Amino acid sequence: MMVSGWEGDRVTTRLQLAPSILTADFGRLADEIKSVEGYVDWFHLDVMDGHYVENLTFGPSTVEAIARVTDTPLHVHLMITDPARYASGFASAGARRISFHPEVTEDVGETIEKVASTGVGVGLAIHPDVPVETARAHLDDVQVVLMMTVRPGFGGQKFLDDVVPKIHQAALMLQESGKTAEVDIEVDGGVNESTLDRAVAAGGQILVAGSAIFDGVDAPAAASRLRGRLDVLGKGMP
Ligand code: DX5
Ligand code: ZN
Repeated sequence: MMVSGWEGDRVTTRLQLAPSILTADFGRLADEIKSVEGYVDWFHLDVMDGHYVENLTFGPSTVEAIARVTDTPLHVHLMITDPARYASGFASAGARRISFHPEVTEDVGETIEKVASTGVGVGLAIHPDVPVETARAHLDDVQVVLMMTVRPGFGGQKFLDDVVPKIHQAALMLQESGKTAEVDIEVDGGVNESTLDRAVAAGGQILVAGSAIFDGVDAPAAASRLRGRLDVLGKGMP
């Protein structure tokens, strides 16, 4: 049974799991990271500046600290108003990928170039209110399209089901552009055991899960369950 909801010829690599550390216990961050790293493919680091979103999180020094305790690749999600200005700091701190929100910049192409010039992979983060078409013109220059299934700013929010057709639209857009093998679709926000299947069926390949893993109960067990479900869902894919 085809898992994905479309007959696309997307070259599917293994479905990937990326815990967001936003709701992790920062008093034990290294332990939290180490406790799940065996089940995950990325760590998703949500950087917020209190301007683009009403929340402040952390900067390059925290990313550097995380890079010291794990070899798992780090995807920095910049929810900030000036991504070009700070990208090099996060790249030097150990980011493997950096995503930003296109609506904060005058010239998306130029910002992609500036972020890419630091040597990291680049992503466009698509806010629930922003059309996914925004990404079409940039598919040659990015490695990931980050589909937000919550409104940016906080972990622990409810998955926005009305974004699911937009994930499907992103998958079709990649297919039309011949980019399904080069560009990942990442789904970010409210992903848990009950929303995972529809995020994958719509075309999600990298699933961000924050509070579904780091909820203070049993992070490794939660990560293992999500990993197990992704392995089952991935079996049905070409
Ligand atoms: C929200 C962040 C998400 C969020 C994910 O602004 O971009 O990465 O922290 O956390 P959960 O999985 O709890 O929605
Ligand atoms: Zn995020």
